Amino acid sequence: MRKIAVVGAGNRALSMFAKPLVRQLSENAKLCGIYDINPHRARLMGEQCGGGIPVFDDFDEMIRVSKPDDVIVTTIDRYHHEYIIRSLEAGCNAISEKPMTIDAEKCQAVLDAERKSGRKVTVTFNCRFMPYVVKVKELLASGVIGDIRSVHLEWQIAYSHGADYFRRWHRKMENSGGLLVHKATHHFDMVNWWVDDEPEKLYAFGDLKFFGPRREQRGERCQTCAYTATCPFYYDVKANDFTRQYYYEAEGHDGYFRDQCVFGDDIDIYDTMSVNVKYRRGALLSYSLTAYNAQEGWRAHFVGSEGRLEAESFHPDMQERPYNDIRIYNRAGELQTIQVPKATGGHGGGDERLRKMIFVGGQDDPLGQQADSWAGAMSLLIGAGANRSIATGQPVVIADLCRRPE
Ligand SMILES: NC(=O)c1ccc[n+]([C@@H]2O[C@H](COP(=O)([O-])OP(=O)(O)OC[C@H]3O[C@@H](n4cnc5c(N)ncnc54)[C@H](O)[C@@H]3O)[C@@H](O)[C@H]2O)c1
Repeated sequence: MRKIAVVGAGNRALSMFAKPLVRQLSENAKLCGIYDINPHRARLMGEQCGGGIPVFDDFDEMIRVSKPDDVIVTTIDRYHHEYIIRSLEAGCNAISEKPMTIDAEKCQAVLDAERKSGRKVTVTFNCRFMPYVVKVKELLASGVIGDIRSVHLEWQIAYSHGADYFRRWHRKMENSGGLLVHKATHHFDMVNWWVDDEPEKLYAFGDLKFFGPRREQRGERCQTCAYTATCPFYYDVKANDFTRQYYYEAEGHDGYFRDQCVFGDDIDIYDTMSVNVKYRRGALLSYSLTAYNAQEGWRAHFVGSEGRLEAESFHPDMQERPYNDIRIYNRAGELQTIQVPKATGGHGGGDERLRKMIFVGGQDDPLGQQADSWAGAMSLLIGAGANRSIATGQPVVIADLCRRPE
């Protein structure tokens, strides 16, 4: 049976991989080891999964002793490349959470290591498995609007969700590449996949307009803050069993606070972003991402040679309907509406379907949902290129950032 180890024992590792592997997929794959730089979290995850999964204090020892076929990388983003490369060099395949890594140099190192090792990197883009997103892909691939020439994608992150990026490790560019990499890698991958093309050139703007050091009343973290009674973003890390056990009670090991002030001085990522991308076959993408909205969701419009397709998904859905619409207009303006039932389960039903593809296998993949390292590169390089464009004020050519190994 295929043996799987996990590095990075946080929220995503527990809910997406470790528990389901032990409790639902034990006939298909065996979780053989857990490692995290914070030993408290690794041990807790081992205990909570059940099944007596071995927990290690050292990554190399985990590889040596547990001999995994695949290593799932769910650390914070800045270390993905290190563990992907170490796994490949040890003869394992790597299954990396998104983003594959956070900048062009690390991306090149991953691509080169994969080529040299002859092993494989898979990137877990769960959005490609959400039934609504898949339906958009099927329709576009069927040629329903002809050649795609223009895409408009607006992504809104709700206040509470957005704030969480600014109180955790994501708040530093060096940890996450900012939201244009950490978050938008999902969105750029969806567009790359939907239009079945690769980005060529981009130009971007980004700013910090809502979070960050914008008000006098701020502190280091919510636990010690003087403004908890009045701050709309007060967050009690002890109020919930999971965050208390995994983060508050683990602070003694690494000094990481999960409730840092969302108005902190050290925040250096953007909360307001706009990117224009030209694709190789000529399609143009206008993308916007904001992290402080009343609603969470996205809206995509595609203009093709034969018509227009519109899709959107928001929650809470003010209309409370059990389905999402896709609207297709032909050149005469005639409308066809397709209703896609809303899926249940994590991330719009994407998580469960992705696990099935990776761990159960045996399925055809006619739409190419399983993403490889090149797909991981093409999406993260839009974000990394956008960060560069914002910093320099210049356009960025994707081929100047990274080369595909021969
Ligand atoms: N696909 C999705 O929808 C989705 C959703 C959430 C998170 N994620 C991804 O999952 C990953 C983890 O995110 P999370 O929300 O679980 O964060 P988290 O903070 O809960 O967990 C991250 C873990 O990495 C560990 N870590 C940090 N540095 C390390 C190192 N050098 N070596 C080993 N372990 C180290 C931390 O101790 C922590 O336990 C991120 O890459 C994130 O982008 C993906």
